[in-house]
Amino acid sequence: MAKGKTLHDDIEEVVFDEKQIAARVKEMGAEISKDYKGKDLVLVGILRGGLVFLSDLTRAIEIPHQFDMVGASSYGTSTSSSGRVQITKDVEINLRGKHVVICEAINDSGRTLAAIRDLLRVHHPESIAVATFLYKKVKKRTTEVEVSYSGFEIDDKFVVGYGLDYAEIYRNLPYIGVLKRRVYEEPKKEK
Ligand code: IMP
Ligand code: MG
Repeated sequence: MAKGKTLHDDIEEVVFDEKQIAARVKEMGAEISKDYKGKDLVLVGILRGGLVFLSDLTRAIEIPHQFDMVGASSYGTSTSSSGRVQITKDVEINLRGKHVVICEAINDSGRTLAAIRDLLRVHHPESIAVATFLYKKVKKRTTEVEVSYSGFEIDDKFVVGYGLDYAEIYRNLPYIGVLKRRVYEEPKKEK
């Protein structure tokens, strides 16, 4: 992005604004609170994209629970997945016998989610469910992991904000937006 501009200048269209996001996360939190009442719940956020969603979702849940984070990376700095999921951080909380809800910002090919699910299984939780804030309507999903709580479905477009990045930037935008084409087309030296 060019120097002296704000992040908003690079956004073509706002897909979900702050109010819509807050309202939906509140609903998801209420649903999870109801479903896990009386159970030992642990939210597991996927770094770095899922950090913002996790921090809102944990505060929207009204029952006692713990949270932890795992690290995964698959996109590198581009707008299409590299296809390889690298695990960069494991959980620290003991998950044995606990009910886990994985919190991811976006589900695209589903590869990251499948890799994280496999990683968490090794820790012997009682159950594993998934909360995805954005579920992309992609033509073919390589791996089908059931998503129990989905925030919004979106078209197969590259979006940023609310934790999601392009080349590690735009994560702090409080809304979900589509990037202007020129951002991808700018010569690398300007970034
Ligand atoms: P998957 O493994 O293909 O499902 O990709 C999931 C990961 O790719 C997400 O956790 C994001 O980090 C990244 N990703 C997928 N789609 C987008 C997007 O539209 N914007 C930004 N990051 C994305
Ligand atoms: Mg990324």
